Amino acid sequence: MQDEPAVVVLRLGHRPGRDERMTTHVGLTARALGADRLLLESVAEGRRETIDDITDRFGGPFEVEITDSPLGRLRSWKGPIVHLTMYGQPVQRVEDEIRASHREEPLLVVVGAEKVPFEVYDRADWNLGVTNQPHSEIAALAVFLDHLFDGRELDREWTDAEKRVIPKETGKRVEDVE
Ligand SMILES: C[S@@+](CC[C@H](N)C(=O)[O-])C[C@H]1O[C@@H](n2cnc3c(N)ncnc32)[C@H](O)[C@@H]1O
Repeated sequence: MQDEPAVVVLRLGHRPGRDERMTTHVGLTARALGADRLLLESVAEGRRETIDDITDRFGGPFEVEITDSPLGRLRSWKGPIVHLTMYGQPVQRVEDEIRASHREEPLLVVVGAEKVPFEVYDRADWNLGVTNQPHSEIAALAVFLDHLFDGRELDREWTDAEKRVIPKETGKRVEDVE
């Protein structure tokens, strides 16, 4: 989020056909809940357009970057790394440490699609579980970001938006931003 070290989400793995909506929703969730950038493998490049389109209409800042070498990005990352996995330490046990570390440096958050190479478990500073039950990278990312930002992402400001949703008890209201 603005005025804080960056949070970058690395989506590792993407099975064409099967993972299209999941990868898009990883991106939309990352954007909506306070991350600054999404790294996608080249095979998932087609998902970029939808995510960029939402950012163009509803605001940013949020970047999507395509990489030929996701593991290379992981290896060369300079700050702390969190890997979301059902086998990891419970979020509620490690969130304070991660928050303190992210106050100083940009944070890389890795989410998988299918089996993640063991190297990722090894390189991560925290292998982190949102419960130790199998579920979804989208749900895990949402809960993790909410814990990381302690709810502040819910009041995030958006810049360069064309549209703004006006919350209503019933019905829908979307306004053009002047
Ligand atoms: C279909 S799941 C694969 C489950 C995998 N066996 C694992 O390591 O979590 C795809 C991704 O969802 C995320 N995920 C699933 N359950 C999770 C949990 N309980 N906590 C954190 N992340 C989870 C992980 O990033 C995983 O790579």
